[in-house]
Amino acid sequence: MTESPQTPKAPSHPRRIFSGMQPTGSLHLGNYLGALRYFVSLQEGEGERIYCVVDLHAITMRQEPGAVRAATRHVAAAYLAAGIDPARSILFNQSQVSEHAELAWIFNCVARIGWMNRMTQFKDKAGKDREAASVGLYVYPTLMAADILAYKATHVPVGEDQKQHLELTRDVATKFNLDFNAPDFFPLPEPIIPAEAARIMSLRDGKKKMSKSDPSDYSRINLADDADAIAQKIRKATTDPAPLPETVEELKDRPEADNLVAIYAAIAETEKEAVLREFAGQGFGAFKPKLAELAVERFGKISAEMRRYEADPAEIDRILSAGADRARALTAPVLDQVYDVLGFVRGRARPF
Ligand code: TYM
Repeated sequence: MTESPQTPKAPSHPRRIFSGMQPTGSLHLGNYLGALRYFVSLQEGEGERIYCVVDLHAITMRQEPGAVRAATRHVAAAYLAAGIDPARSILFNQSQVSEHAELAWIFNCVARIGWMNRMTQFKDKAGKDREAASVGLYVYPTLMAADILAYKATHVPVGEDQKQHLELTRDVATKFNLDFNAPDFFPLPEPIIPAEAARIMSLRDGKKKMSKSDPSDYSRINLADDADAIAQKIRKATTDPAPLPETVEELKDRPEADNLVAIYAAIAETEKEAVLREFAGQGFGAFKPKLAELAVERFGKISAEMRRYEADPAEIDRILSAGADRARALTAPVLDQVYDVLGFVRGRARPF
């Protein structure tokens, strides 16, 4: 795991970690290897941890209410099954903590339209018919900035695809601090992006990101897949006929082979070089069963635990609601301060 070197840590803000995942579809191997496993390992270090299921982000695309609710519990179950301990981390869903939306509005007035127009994820998600995209999808990044800065979080573990959103978050923080003459009010949060597996690709097409929204279930390994499904998807993964090479450079023009080696390395917690030292010269007929064995060993337990949690939705709801109470205790004073900075008075408790 590398912490971005270009960003000096703001010393005046205590280390606080925030990250989130959208409840849209099933979580997959990319979400786990690119982000979730770090959420878990960061529990060992210093600093408060806040992990969110970002249901307000999910509705930037049309969702059935029942489906969002089920997917929110699914993501929460994945967090818990992967090892997030609600006693050591705050685990909750975004819509229960209204300060996220409240701060997002303020950030909509700080961020510039030109910044939004550069966001590649909006272009990807809106597709050809941009006029028909929701306004929420357009301002998605300011809500993300609000998620992070409502806690004055300093570190954000994410996959590579979120890097641009993190840069925008830093731009929003910088402009707010400058515009309102409040130096160092918000920290400039640092992304924590894994060195390996920052971008896991589809099992069907090594040039496309593994994604929850890919219509082909064979493009991804879902965290909820059982051992048979995992093994079958790896067996069917697209590859080329050549054996594995000796060096990482030789994987450059072989995106599918590169992706499977990266997945193996990430699961085995090693580097691609080490995987090639073991498998160079062997074909996929030999490599895939080894990868399947490793993946089943690692994810079999997580998927069984997810099923156990999902069988008790009331318990998940209880955990999310207790987490939301703790989250609100952190965000309410920050929003009070933001209102002060803006010349507003927040809530009815104090006279104008
Ligand atoms: P989301 O829900 O798309 O993905 C959750 C996390 O998984 C990572 N990820 C991947 N990593 C490697 N390879 C892949 N193929 C892959 N696909 C997804 C993502 O980078 C992410 O870390 N906008 C965010 C959610 C969000 C958020 C936040 C994150 C909202 N507010 C505040 C951090 C902080 C998103 O859509 O992630």
